[in-house]
Amino acid sequence: MIISFVSEKGGVGKTTLTSNLAIAFRELGKRVLVVDGDFRTASLTLSFGITKPPFTILDLLERADLKDVIISHPSGIEILASPISSNLSYLELTGLNFPSYFDIILIDTQPSIKASLPFIKLSDKAIIVSTQDIPSLFSARKVFEKLKKMGIETGIIVNRYRKIIKKEVIERFLDLPILGFIPEDDRVLKSFYRGFPAFYLFPKCRFSKEVRKVAYRILGLNFKESIFDKLFRWLK
Ligand SMILES: Nc1ncnc2c1ncn2[C@@H]1O[C@H](COP(=O)(O)OP(=O)(O)O)[C@@H](O)[C@H]1O
Ligand SMILES: [Mg+2]
Repeated sequence: MIISFVSEKGGVGKTTLTSNLAIAFRELGKRVLVVDGDFRTASLTLSFGITKPPFTILDLLERADLKDVIISHPSGIEILASPISSNLSYLELTGLNFPSYFDIILIDTQPSIKASLPFIKLSDKAIIVSTQDIPSLFSARKVFEKLKKMGIETGIIVNRYRKIIKKEVIERFLDLPILGFIPEDDRVLKSFYRGFPAFYLFPKCRFSKEVRKVAYRILGLNFKESIFDKLFRWLK
């Protein structure tokens, strides 16, 4: 399954969700490849602590074998790095395809649907990431409609969720399928400095639990919350 993470707005959490969902899928025993499809900032590559990748997508386009250009991260995730600051035209990507060695391929993209189209077209599903502010949700809705028109399967993740606005209000406002609400959590920033996704370092925290729920939902699995988690949530 190939999934791309998209939005028209920057800074909403595409990179954060790509890396953390990768760990959630790994935890489920899947072979996961993440692809840094943001050639402007390459933040996915950076979020795994890689500042100077030995290989990048460019090598792949020059017909190198995928297995020779992926980077193995200690978290168990395989990475296809972005050529940082490359001027590479996205058109060149049209011929790109990934072999079936991986169970799940997650593609992080830049904040532009148009520029990310070659990646979106390769994907079975394009997940839109939004924060809970109105402009971001509005933009997410527009992207949703655009992708639907193109016949692309899609859904929305609301990231950096804080309880200022009730989930039901956001759901009513969007009136579209929401895959999950991922809470705001300082561990995301802390983990970035350590070169590991927060999910890997703090698998039991609320943030990771919500990411895990989304991973289950994407795979069509039934997520069972433990009795302690339920009680804890109820007491809060
Ligand atoms: N759930 C979260 N909690 C706290 N900080 C977050 C969360 N998600 C993202 N961030 C922070 O927000 C910023 C933008 O996130 P990022 O994933 O890079 O967005 P995008 O890839 O859409 O541009 C980063 O500094 C990241 O650390
Ligand atoms: Mg990003």
